Amino acid sequence: GDTLTVLGLESSCDDTAAAVVRQRAGARPEILSSVVRGQTDLHAPFGGVVPEIAARAHAEKLDGCVEQALAEAGLALVDLDAIAVTAGPGLIGGVLSGVMCAKGLAAATGLPLVGVNHLAGHALTPRLTDGLAFPYLMLLASGGHCQFLAVEGVEEFTRLGATIDDAPGEAFDKTAKLLALPQPGGPEVEREAEAGDPARFAFPRPLMDRPGCDMSFSGLKTALLRTRDGIIAEKGGITVQDRADLCASFQAAVRDVLAGKARRALDAAPDGLTALAVAGGVAANRTIRAALEQVAAEAGLPFVAPPLKLCTDNAAMIAWAGLERFRAGHQDDMTLAARPRWPL
Ligand code: KG4
Ligand code: ZN
Repeated sequence: GDTLTVLGLESSCDDTAAAVVRQRAGARPEILSSVVRGQTDLHAPFGGVVPEIAARAHAEKLDGCVEQALAEAGLALVDLDAIAVTAGPGLIGGVLSGVMCAKGLAAATGLPLVGVNHLAGHALTPRLTDGLAFPYLMLLASGGHCQFLAVEGVEEFTRLGATIDDAPGEAFDKTAKLLALPQPGGPEVEREAEAGDPARFAFPRPLMDRPGCDMSFSGLKTALLRTRDGIIAEKGGITVQDRADLCASFQAAVRDVLAGKARRALDAAPDGLTALAVAGGVAANRTIRAALEQVAAEAGLPFVAPPLKLCTDNAAMIAWAGLERFRAGHQDDMTLAARPRWPL
């Protein structure tokens, strides 16, 4: 029919999520429910996501998430038109848990199964939230990803550039660790930076002297470590002001790299762009967001940043990407595989 209702499942990293999205053809889609259960507490003692713990937690939480997502949407399985699931990329145990859960639901109901690339889920989110038309430029910047994508169709993504080492969120997290701030580090570093001088330390702007849209963030962390140790060697410790200045100078470097490379990505992107869009946890940073907003304004383009809950990992984006794929005539069968690596 012309109204499609799709259940989405997401379990590729450390959030277990289920959501229901509905769209009447030609109308704006609606998120009927979006349930996200994190695992931060489970992994906290280990200082990072432990794949085996994540896989077991996903397996345990998925059914409950699905039940809750259906209940909040006021629907039963028979009301659905398809089951969408993240089939990669991500931690293989988690992706497998999701794919097996989706296959079980599809087998039990006879509903079509649609495998979704997690990155496509992020990249198609501005169509869910803002109804953006193709083509647009998407910057995906999170703890695990960093890339510029020209989004030209439901299945048409051109990667214009990506990080060659760490993701920017990872750099924020490592910076926080080096300065004894809590995790996740992004919001902590941003808060510290408010009282800091971004010009005090001249951190590198990696790869800005090279053509193209590739980025690098691992050198920044090394520079920060060296500067911190220099201060400690000189004065015996770092003051509150030193820490704020380190955070502000680091944040300014990340901002300049993302904004500078965004300018280049806009030049390299196809004609007729409708917007510059962002997704990923790093898009929550107000300094970075303001710089990207200015880059968009210089190019005469709208700047689109979906609400934070839909910028970070969630299943509404998977339900939506699955709905778009299904509407375009794609579906998978019981041979759908979980793929740890799956570039767009
Ligand atoms: O998209 P996300 O929730 O999860 C994935 O990585 O998939 O992104 C989390 C990352 C973390 O590294 C976190 O430190 C970073 O986004 N982050 C921020 C801010 N809020 C979250 N980075 C900079 N500034 C922020 N305000
Ligand atoms: Zn993600």
